[in-house]
Amino acid sequence: MATVTKNGAITRTKLAELQGLTLEQPVIRVEDVHKYYDLGENKVHALRGVSVEIAGGEFVAIMGASGSGKSTFMNLLGCLDKPSSGRYLLEGTDVSQLDKKALAAIRNRKLGFVFQGFNLLSRTTALENVELPTLYARLPKEERLQRAKESLQLVGLGDRMEHFPSQLSGGQQQRVAIARALVNRPSILLADEPTGNLDSRTSVEIMQIFQTLNEGGLTLVLVTHEPDIARFAKRTIVFRDGKIRRDEPVKDRPRAAEMLKTLPTVED
Ligand SMILES: Nc1ncnc2c1ncn2[C@@H]1O[C@H](COP(=O)(O)OP(=O)(O)OP(=O)(O)O)[C@@H](O)[C@H]1O
Ligand SMILES: [Mg+2]
Repeated sequence: MATVTKNGAITRTKLAELQGLTLEQPVIRVEDVHKYYDLGENKVHALRGVSVEIAGGEFVAIMGASGSGKSTFMNLLGCLDKPSSGRYLLEGTDVSQLDKKALAAIRNRKLGFVFQGFNLLSRTTALENVELPTLYARLPKEERLQRAKESLQLVGLGDRMEHFPSQLSGGQQQRVAIARALVNRPSILLADEPTGNLDSRTSVEIMQIFQTLNEGGLTLVLVTHEPDIARFAKRTIVFRDGKIRRDEPVKDRPRAAEMLKTLPTVED
């Protein structure tokens, strides 16, 4: 991996090396990744040489204009897709060339996803929606139910387990989606526009959950268009035209829990 990025910044690894430190191995290490989408005549070069490291316990917000490659990048991080070239090391394992089955296994063990559209099953209760990913983990039924309940309690929905998605507010549905993403106890949570459809108070409530999870050690990477949401993270990475244009720590990071005290309440 290049030790100095094109804009002259030095990588964390190199810096640590120069300082004689042993750095904790990054949980995510992306090396010069390119992604092409081949649609016959139209070849889209969606990622154009992306290199980045994300350590355990980080909380990263990905920003950038529409079409800049954010979702493409998240799909790679989430092992939903493979890079056209370059390497992706997840907890030290090169996953860039694994086959679909191996990727699915890694995804299920290490990663949780939250998408903008919630993707909840509509004829299924909150509890059943959250329980679903545990089916693949081959746990006894009782333990699966227990985990699903714990996950729902963690996002403050202990009293809504038997509700169907249509009986829940947008924020509550998103919280079910977060509970579902957490039920297999992933070490990394990936969220693509998790607050995209939500009003501002509900968005801050979601960020409060993320900040709490992050304090508990979970590594978080989320995509957002909104600078007000990005500043709840610890680090922001800005994409432009398939490349990383900025990568910087967040200064004066607000506490979502504190901010909620000052925001008007909307009946949830
Ligand atoms: N499955 C696909 N097939 C072909 N082209 C694609 C595909 N997915 C994305 N692209 C193209 O790749 C580029 C990057 O798309 P991507 O979805 O990563 O952008 P984004 O930053 O997530 O945008 P948005 O903010 O609108 O969600 C775009 O030009 C898009 O049209
Ligand atoms: Mg996108």
